[in-house]
Amino acid sequence: MTVLNITNANTRWRVFEKEKLCDTFGDVVNLQIGDLKSTKKVLQENDVKIVFWRPNSDEMTFAEYEAMQSQRQILSNLPMINDPKNYLNTHCKEYAFDIWSKISKITIPKYEIINNDATFSKDTSLGFPMLVRLNNEVTGRGSYLIKNIQDLQRGLFKLNNDFHYAKSKKSFTKKIAVQFIDATKESGKYNMSYRVIVAGNKVVTGYARLSEATDWVAITGKFKYEMGELFIKYQERCNNMIEKNHDVIVEAVHSLGLNLQGVDIIEDQKGQIYFLECQPGFSTGYSDWAPPFYNPYYPDLVRFIQENKEEFQKRCPMYYNKWLNKETLFAEIFTNLKEIL
Ligand SMILES: Nc1ncnc2c1ncn2[C@@H]1O[C@H](COP(=O)(O)OP(=O)(O)O)[C@@H](O)[C@H]1O
Ligand SMILES: [Mg+2]
Repeated sequence: MTVLNITNANTRWRVFEKEKLCDTFGDVVNLQIGDLKSTKKVLQENDVKIVFWRPNSDEMTFAEYEAMQSQRQILSNLPMINDPKNYLNTHCKEYAFDIWSKISKITIPKYEIINNDATFSKDTSLGFPMLVRLNNEVTGRGSYLIKNIQDLQRGLFKLNNDFHYAKSKKSFTKKIAVQFIDATKESGKYNMSYRVIVAGNKVVTGYARLSEATDWVAITGKFKYEMGELFIKYQERCNNMIEKNHDVIVEAVHSLGLNLQGVDIIEDQKGQIYFLECQPGFSTGYSDWAPPFYNPYYPDLVRFIQENKEEFQKRCPMYYNKWLNKETLFAEIFTNLKEIL
């Protein structure tokens, strides 16, 4: 039995991903995105059972996208992990928002597409604070927090520069504005966001990301040892949030026509969750990142987790057993996918 792994530039295997894929689905044959000739050949010569699409989720030109769709046509009878027909639903934040806005149980921030700066400034109904951002950047790049009308002019000017630069590598770049949700915790001291991993019909695991509130992008990299107890508290909160919202989180991924995604979620002051985006290339760590967890690998955080192992196991088992252990994580991911494909 063979599984096709189709990738392009700047994609690599996450730690234990390939091993667990093989354990579950058989031998892996690699193909390049858009290589139609080799695709036909491999299909003739192998007993291909499944296709794992792993295009670069951050960069895509129109030509690459078109080639990927033609390649998909050749493989259209096979079960797929992350059908590239729905690629833009993760590459462009507004595509996901558009689909989610039509599903009442999925809550998202209000958003608008900025086609023209002057018209947007005059007509927007978003109000402040808002974010103006590119639709397809990562780790908060190309995003500006706008608190008033002066900020808006400056922000749109900077965003325009980012836009023209990004357009050359990413054909689907757009400017969007998004209602800014107060996702702070601990009386405004920290910003918090969740990353939840969905495979097949189940949430596999998730974690909370805390950062200083002065920094509106909440990602794990910003852990400080003093945050310790709070770190466990919010992993526990993440466990509970997943239990409470399991089905709607899975629905958020399925509604985009996808089956293996990292989902970004924030929570307002009332505990209402908001879906922000899905990310197929969610980082779990790579083999050249530091064990035992790979991600996280920051020494202070690793030490803190090791010193508080029992506490983690007891209060946030999903985090401890399935996020920190990347072998278990990928074994479970592919087992879940096998059940539905
Ligand atoms: N509308 C929003 N309101 C408040 N915080 C936000 C909002 N959108 C994004 N953020 C913060 O920025 C982080 C990154 O946002 P995200 O939409 O996932 O974009 P990307 O990861 O592509 O930069 C989120 O995890 C969250 O902390
Ligand atoms: Mg994100």
